[in-house]
Amino acid sequence: MSANGVAAHCCETPGCNAEAKLQCPTCIKLNIQGSFFCSQNCFKGYWESHKLRHKKPSISDSSTPYNPWPYYAFSGSLRPYPQTTKKEVPPSIGRPDYADDPNGFPHSEQKVRGAANIKCLSDEEKEGMRVACKLAREVLDEGVKVADIGVATDEIDRVVHEAAIERECYPSPLNYHGFPKSCCTSVNEVICHGIPDMRPLQNGDICNIDVTVYHRNFHGDLNETLFIGEVSSIAKNLVKTTWECLQKSIEIVKPGVKYREVGSLIQKHAHSQGFSVVRSYCGHGIHQLFHTAPSVPHYAKNKAVGVMKPGHTFTIEPMISEGTWKDEQWPDNWTAVTADGKLSAQFEETLLVTDTGVEVLTQRRDRNGQPYFMD
Ligand code: MF3
Ligand code: CO
Ligand code: CO
Repeated sequence: MSANGVAAHCCETPGCNAEAKLQCPTCIKLNIQGSFFCSQNCFKGYWESHKLRHKKPSISDSSTPYNPWPYYAFSGSLRPYPQTTKKEVPPSIGRPDYADDPNGFPHSEQKVRGAANIKCLSDEEKEGMRVACKLAREVLDEGVKVADIGVATDEIDRVVHEAAIERECYPSPLNYHGFPKSCCTSVNEVICHGIPDMRPLQNGDICNIDVTVYHRNFHGDLNETLFIGEVSSIAKNLVKTTWECLQKSIEIVKPGVKYREVGSLIQKHAHSQGFSVVRSYCGHGIHQLFHTAPSVPHYAKNKAVGVMKPGHTFTIEPMISEGTWKDEQWPDNWTAVTADGKLSAQFEETLLVTDTGVEVLTQRRDRNGQPYFMD
């Protein structure tokens, strides 16, 4: 352990176990992991053996030759893989405004940006949300069915895309601010907004699938984190705790409750298990707009504006991390990862505030709300 508590690298020179902070520049360029040395002396002394690592990789270790950002220091061990080309949605399906904007800019969201005013939905609009959210749940269910060891997240995205179209839905993430895929898949240290790609899921991964659909003018948004094969006990506890954080916060939803109160319950429970709460991403109002007022932080002592009223629709989507709460973004400008490369999990539901409490619009129907990781 170094002074700041971060596990340090160990010098690569055999027999030298000193703490090592110098990394071989050629290895960095070639994206070869490890290759730390404690000093120039050790680096030079071991050079004749070390340089063999710069040779072309053999077939057995050439499975990830793709590194689009050779100078980016990844916080964890996950890497991007190639992506497939953009998918189309038949023109017969109603689309949000950003779908056809060259930059995916959501003009209708922007018009009310910054306004604290929270919309109360009419009975007809509530019914529109119920339908969109039920379809969003069905689409997530289809994505979950194919997630398994060896399956690429791109394949999950393909299934989600087709399941949405079959239900006369536009997959809301597609082209939202330019997002290239139809859902988000966030693996291991990815907090949220992971882009589906050709990486096959591995035994021991945790993988979040976040689905939003747009159906007849309304968005429904939900996500779940899944176990891929046999996962570590820390991963199990993190995912379970994150799900409990969402359940506990849903329980308090009713008219008169302040949006800022949601975060205190979530943080209390996360901290009780030694986990941290991500601060950069929040729950949000959702209806005809994908992201709008209110903003719903998941951490305590936040300054969220607004009080719950009957007819409000919004998401709670806590992201809970194993180590630091801090996040950073990959150079794709989407993928949010933990700053220490440790695990992060998330669950999300879209909620309607009723006269007396809450309706979980995206609730799983077949097992009465039980999450997939408990199946
Ligand atoms: N579904 C995400 C949420 O819960 C938003 C994804 S936006 C995207 O708010 F562009 F990244 F897809
Ligand atoms: Co959301
Ligand atoms: Co979502």
